[in-house]
Amino acid sequence: MTDCQGDVEGASTPMELYEKLSEQGVKVRSLKSAKADKTEVDTAVQLLLKLKMDYKQMTGHDYKAGCPPSENDAAPNNGPAADVAGEDDTVDPWTVSTTNAKGVDYDKLIVRFGSSKIDQELVDRIEKVCGQKPHRFLRRGVFFSHRDMHQVLDAYEKHKSFYLYTGRGPSSEAMHVGHLIPFIFTKWLQDVFDIPLVIQLTDDEKYLWKDLTVEECHRFAIENAKDIIACGFDINKTFIFSDLDYMGSSPEFYRNVVKIQKHVTFNQVKGIFGFTDSDCIGKISFPAIQAAPSFSNSFPHVFGSRKDIQCLIPCAIDQDPYFRMTRDVAPRIGYPKPALLHSTFFPALQGAQTKMSASDANSSIFLTDTPKQIKNKINKHAFSGGKDTVEEHRKYGGNADVDVSFMYLTFFLEDDEQLEKIRQDYTSGALLTGELKKILIETLQPMIAQHQERRKQVTDDLVKQFMTPRPLNFNL
Ligand code: TRP
Repeated sequence: MTDCQGDVEGASTPMELYEKLSEQGVKVRSLKSAKADKTEVDTAVQLLLKLKMDYKQMTGHDYKAGCPPSENDAAPNNGPAADVAGEDDTVDPWTVSTTNAKGVDYDKLIVRFGSSKIDQELVDRIEKVCGQKPHRFLRRGVFFSHRDMHQVLDAYEKHKSFYLYTGRGPSSEAMHVGHLIPFIFTKWLQDVFDIPLVIQLTDDEKYLWKDLTVEECHRFAIENAKDIIACGFDINKTFIFSDLDYMGSSPEFYRNVVKIQKHVTFNQVKGIFGFTDSDCIGKISFPAIQAAPSFSNSFPHVFGSRKDIQCLIPCAIDQDPYFRMTRDVAPRIGYPKPALLHSTFFPALQGAQTKMSASDANSSIFLTDTPKQIKNKINKHAFSGGKDTVEEHRKYGGNADVDVSFMYLTFFLEDDEQLEKIRQDYTSGALLTGELKKILIETLQPMIAQHQERRKQVTDDLVKQFMTPRPLNFNL
C-alpha cells in the first residue's frame, strides 16, 4: 500500500481541500446509509480523517461542514499546525518538544503526518533486497516512519535504481552526536544499495534564519562537510554542495527551484511552515531550495538530463514538512515524488522532552569533546531513570524507558543481546545507574575519538573534491 493519502492530494488551496472534504463527507454518509461493505466504509472514513488533518494543517483550524475557509486561512503565527503530535508534542523544522519523559509519541506523529510505519515486514524486506543484516537503526526503530519505501524496493528489485539525498543546516561549527544519526544511516544505505548520494548544506537557510553573516554560514558549511566526510562516504559516489555556491553555478538546479516556486502559494507555505506576513521573503521561498535536490535533473553532472530517477531521502522527522510540500508539487511539474525514511530525534542529555541542541553545551555530546568531557557530561547531566538510593534501586529497579543513558545505548551499542541484557538488568535493579553510565561512557569515548581521528585526515583538498560538481560512479 502506498501512503499517498498523507499528501494534500492535488488540493493546493484550503478551498480545494474544503471541497474535497465536503465531497468525502457526503460519500461517507451515503455509504453508511446504504449499509455498504464494512471495509469500504472504513476506507472512506479513513480518507475523510486524513483530509481533515490535512485541512487543519493547511488552515490552522478544524474543518466545519458548511463553513468554507476564507482566503487568508493559514496556520496561526506560532508555528505550523502540523506540529501537534500528541497533545503536547511540538514537531516542526525549528522546534521539538513534548511534556512526556519517554519523548515524542511517534505513533501519533505517523498518523498526524500521514506517513507509514516502518514495521517488521518492511525491515525484513529491506534485508532481503539488500542482502545485509538491517542496520541497528532499523532493527531498533530509530528510523521508524517512511513514505513509499515499498515502491523504491519494488523498482530496485526490477533493477531500477535510485539515489539518496540528505542534508544539514550549518548553524555552527559544533556538531553533536545527534547530528550524525542521518549520516551514519545514509552511509549504510549507500554501501548496501551501492547508489549515488547528494548532500545539501543549507548555508543560505541558516543565513536567513539566524543572526549570522553569509560568510560565517558558508564557513560553517565547509567545516560541517569535514565531519560529514569523516562518516566514511565514498568519494566516487557522493556530491556535497553548499547552496550559496551551487545555486549560482547550476542553471538546471535554479530552473527546478523556479518551477517549484511557481507551484506553491504563500498560503500553502503559511499552512505548512507557519510563516507570517512579517517573515522575510527569503524564508518564504526557501522551501523550494530544499525541495529541488529531490529531482535528479538538478544534478546534470551526475544524472545528465534524466528527470525520472527516484530519490530517497533519509532525514529526521522534523524535516518532513519540506518533503510533504515537495511530494505535493512533484507530479504537477512532471517529476517522481521523493520517497522518505524518517528518524526519531536524538534526545538531549536532560531528557527526551527535547532534542539535543548545538547551542546548549550541557545538553549535548559534541564531536569535539574530550574523553574527560564526555565522562563528566554523562555523569553530571544524563537524565537517569534510576531510583534515588541504591537500596531502592535494588528493590524496585530502574526505568529504562526514560533513562537517557539507556536511550543513547540503543543508538550506538551494536550488540542486540548485550543491549537487551542491560535493559533487563537495569529494570530489575541488578544494574545501577552509575554502572549503566559507565557502559555508555565506554561506548562513546572510542566512537568519538575515532571520529576525531578520521576528521583529522580530511584535508581541505578532499573537501574540495567532494564539493566539486563532477560525474559520479554508479550504475542505474
Ligand atoms: N533543513 C535541514 C537542517 O536544517 C538541512 C537539509 C537540507 C536536509 N536538505 C535536507 C536535511 C534533506 C535532511 C534531508 O538541518
